[in-house]
Amino acid sequence: MHDIIDQLENKRAAARQGGGEKRVAAQHAKGKLSARERIELLLDQGSFEEWDMFVEHRCVDFGMADNKIPGDGVVTGYGMINGRLVFVFSQDFTVFGGALSEAHAEKICKVMDQAMKVGAPVIGLNDSGGARIQEGVASLGGYAEVFQRNVMSSGVIPQISMIMGPCAGGAVYSPAMTDFIFMVKDSSYMFVTGPEVVKTVTHEEVTAEELGGALTHTGRSGVADRAFDNDVEALLMLRRFFNYLPLNNRDGVPVRPNADPADRSDLSLDTLVPDNPNKPYDIKELILKVVDDGDFFELQPDYAKNIVIGMARMEGRTVGVVANNPLVLAGCLDIKSSIKAARFVRFCDAFNIPVVTFVDVPGFMPGTSQEYGGIIKHGAKLLYAYAECTVPKVTVITRKAYGGAYDVMSSKHLRGDVNFAWPNAEIAVMGAKGAVEIIFREDKGDPAKLAAKEAEYKARFANPFVAGARGYIDDVIQPHETRKRICRSLAMLKDKNIENPWRKHGNIPL
Ligand code: HXC
Repeated sequence: MHDIIDQLENKRAAARQGGGEKRVAAQHAKGKLSARERIELLLDQGSFEEWDMFVEHRCVDFGMADNKIPGDGVVTGYGMINGRLVFVFSQDFTVFGGALSEAHAEKICKVMDQAMKVGAPVIGLNDSGGARIQEGVASLGGYAEVFQRNVMSSGVIPQISMIMGPCAGGAVYSPAMTDFIFMVKDSSYMFVTGPEVVKTVTHEEVTAEELGGALTHTGRSGVADRAFDNDVEALLMLRRFFNYLPLNNRDGVPVRPNADPADRSDLSLDTLVPDNPNKPYDIKELILKVVDDGDFFELQPDYAKNIVIGMARMEGRTVGVVANNPLVLAGCLDIKSSIKAARFVRFCDAFNIPVVTFVDVPGFMPGTSQEYGGIIKHGAKLLYAYAECTVPKVTVITRKAYGGAYDVMSSKHLRGDVNFAWPNAEIAVMGAKGAVEIIFREDKGDPAKLAAKEAEYKARFANPFVAGARGYIDDVIQPHETRKRICRSLAMLKDKNIENPWRKHGNIPL
């Protein structure tokens, strides 16, 4: 019996060694943790239950028959984050460069399948040279098996990808189909084709970092949601982010003990919006002052900054926050911001997370680049997302809500449950200046007359009471009481239950 136990321990030790000391040292020298060290940091201490430690690949070509490492380049299993269940796979770059074989894919699929059966999120820690070159099409088949599961899990359990090394070729499409992608600065990259192929095909010279590094994907492409300085920060922030998420689409939002009073007022909000309607202010100040403990987990902070999205809590319960930011492009909606917010609203809707929307939007961005880029279709994504959304929706108009953008931003007409406006709000088809220049075009040569008409238009329309008179706004509230009014609304909406008509699926303008 002792022999057998020793054998088991030896086998386990062999699996834990991964690609061996030298390769682990090389991993550390790059500032990267090993696959197991990452899991240790991500999960609650001692909670990891590993599966398939003894799985080996079945490849016999190119000398692979004698080159087997137990575990086959990915560590899989389940554990807890702050006492809540999560399934994990962590690719081991020290074993065949973390490359995905048929067996490696089967291990990932096994945890994905189990996560679906019990209703728990899946976190993938990606660090891989892509398809296991020695295996060819068996590896491609493995990828497709993972892709299929990504799609079936979408909207049922949260899926999060942390990119902690290379992620290239078709391999990028599994993370792309998960709900959130996070990256580690300077050590991770994602691209469909690498710099060498780019050079051959388009004659562009570009480094891997420029082509698909963390800054590229958080600032330019919008593929990634956040980037962190190193593995340790990334994993600790991932734990923090996980705390906001429901475990599945039938679970309610997690509730945290909360000491921040629901009726806390903040007088500084009464002077947040400048008197001059053309002057910007930072909407994040409002968000931080309204949510529990000023704790806001922003997503895509460096992409389409004219809209702010992220997770927060109100009275201890998770909410999704969407807010136009007048600090950037005057808060206009454009292609990027519409896509950014639409996907976020759909995530919240899929997982029963109420959406709180702060509106200060002068309209959609005009111009050929927007029109040629398809702002009609992309702007419609946000409209569609809000209209389809059945979770509690609370909206606060802090200043401008003009034109089509008024409709889009969780208006009453798109089944906004509670719609508030601050007293200085301007809810109109457009700004007063633009409006009189169109209606009184014949008076173009008479600035005094135009100014008078502008003042008249402003007095008549640049306020919240015209919308209020029609019930489009439920109440005009004092800025300092915003937190209290939102908290009350969300408490009232806690058991909201509406359903969209049965259909196979809608046809969102993609
Ligand atoms: C098998 C691989 C591998 C792969 C790396 N290795 N990639 N083994 N299949 N895809 C092995 C190396 O042989 C090496 O083994 C070890 O991993 C570490 O690799 P290095 O090259 O020494 O590391 P580094 O210099 O850091 O470079 C990492 C890398 C590079 C940039 C990822 O290895 C690389 O370019 N690999 C090939 C990438 C690739 O073309 N993949 C296929 C993409 S197509 P030893 O024994 O020396 O430690 C694809 C299609 C997916 O993925 C389609 C899905 C639909």
